[in-house]
Amino acid sequence: MALTGLVGWRGMVGSVLMDRMVEERDFEHIEPLFFSTSNAGGKAPPQAKNETTLRDAYDIEALKRCDIIVTAQGGDYTTAVYPKLRAAGWKGHWIDAASTLRMNDDAVIVLDPVNLPVIKDALARGGRNWIGGNCTVSCMLMGVGALYKAGLVEWMCTQTYQAASGGGAQHMRELLTQYGTLNAEVKPLLDDPKSAILEIDRRVIARQRALSADETAHFGVPLGGSLIPWIDKDLGVGKSADEPFWGTSKEEWKGGAETNKILGQGESFGTPAVPVDGYCVRVGAMRCHSQALLFKLRRDVPLADIEAMIAGDNAWVKLVPNTREATIRELTPVAVSGTMSIPVGRVRKMAMGPEYLGAFTIGDQLLWGAAEPLRRMLRILLE
Ligand code: HSE
Repeated sequence: MALTGLVGWRGMVGSVLMDRMVEERDFEHIEPLFFSTSNAGGKAPPQAKNETTLRDAYDIEALKRCDIIVTAQGGDYTTAVYPKLRAAGWKGHWIDAASTLRMNDDAVIVLDPVNLPVIKDALARGGRNWIGGNCTVSCMLMGVGALYKAGLVEWMCTQTYQAASGGGAQHMRELLTQYGTLNAEVKPLLDDPKSAILEIDRRVIARQRALSADETAHFGVPLGGSLIPWIDKDLGVGKSADEPFWGTSKEEWKGGAETNKILGQGESFGTPAVPVDGYCVRVGAMRCHSQALLFKLRRDVPLADIEAMIAGDNAWVKLVPNTREATIRELTPVAVSGTMSIPVGRVRKMAMGPEYLGAFTIGDQLLWGAAEPLRRMLRILLE
C-alpha cells in the first residue's frame, strides 16, 4: 500500500479532508503516516494503522519515506519544505491545497470531473505535483465546466460573493462575533416592536464604524452587515493605470489564470486562453462561495440545450429551475453548505443578445473548493 504522508490534517481544510477520506473509505487503500508541525511524537489519529506516532512535518528524512504526501498545512509550509524535499531527491507525488506551486509549469491544478484528461496526460509524462485550485474557480468549473468543455465560451465575467471561510477559521469567528456585537447593540430596541427602525439602523452603523482593531483583526474592516469588494493582494501596487493588472486583485487574477490552466489552455498549452475577469467580493456567508456569471458564447445555443449540457456534466451539478421559488429554496449558501452539491440556477439569456448567457452558482468552498479535489487525486494515483 502506498505510504501516504498527511500534513495539516487538523486544520479547517484538513479536518474536512479527513472527514471526506473516512466517508469515502480512502484509508482502506493507503498506509497513512501522520505528520505534525507542533506535536511530533504525539499520538496519531485513529485512522493510523502501523505508524501510530506523529512525525515532525519538517523532518525531510521522514517525509522522504512517503510515496505520496497530501498537505493542507498552508503556503508557508509548502514554501519551507517542498524545495528541500525535492532537493533531497524525493520523487513522490505531492498533493497540496496551498496556492504556492499552483502556476508552476510542472504542476497540475486538479479538478478531475473537469480536467481528468489534463491530469492523465501529465501523469503519463511523469507529473508529480498535484495542486488544488482556488476555491472560487473550482466551484465555478464544477458548475459550468460543460460550457468550457464544449468550446462555447468566448469570455466570462464573474461577480463573486465569497464566504468568510475563504479567509480561514479565525475569519469565520470574527464574522460571527461581529454579528453578535451588532445584535447586542440594538437588542432592547429589536425586542420592542414599537421602536423606530431608523434609530436601530443609526446605532448599528455607529457600532460598525466603532469596531475596534481587535474586533476587525482578520478582515481589517467590518464584514458583519457589510461587504468587502477586494480579496487577496493588490497586483497593481507600484504599477501605473495602463500597466497589466493595475487595479486587479489577486483573487480576480486567479479567476482567469487558473480557469485556463485547469482546462489545459493558455500560454503554456498552445491554445488561446479564454478571458475571464470580474470582481471578487467578500460577503457575510459562512463557507459557501456564490457567483453570478455572464458568458459571451461563441454562438447562439438554445437555452434548453445549455441546461441539458450543464445538468449532464457531472454527478454533483444540479440545475435549479429559474423560478423564484426554486431559487430561494435551493440556490443559497444555507441550502448548499456542507453538501457536495453544486447548484447552477438563474440560467437565462441576457438582454444584451442571444449569445449572452447568465447563470448563478454556489459551492461549499471547503469541499469542492478545497478538500475534495485533493482526495480524488489521491484515489487517481492509487488506481
Ligand atoms: N482565496 C479564497 C478566498 C479561498 O479568500 O475566499 C481559497 O481559495
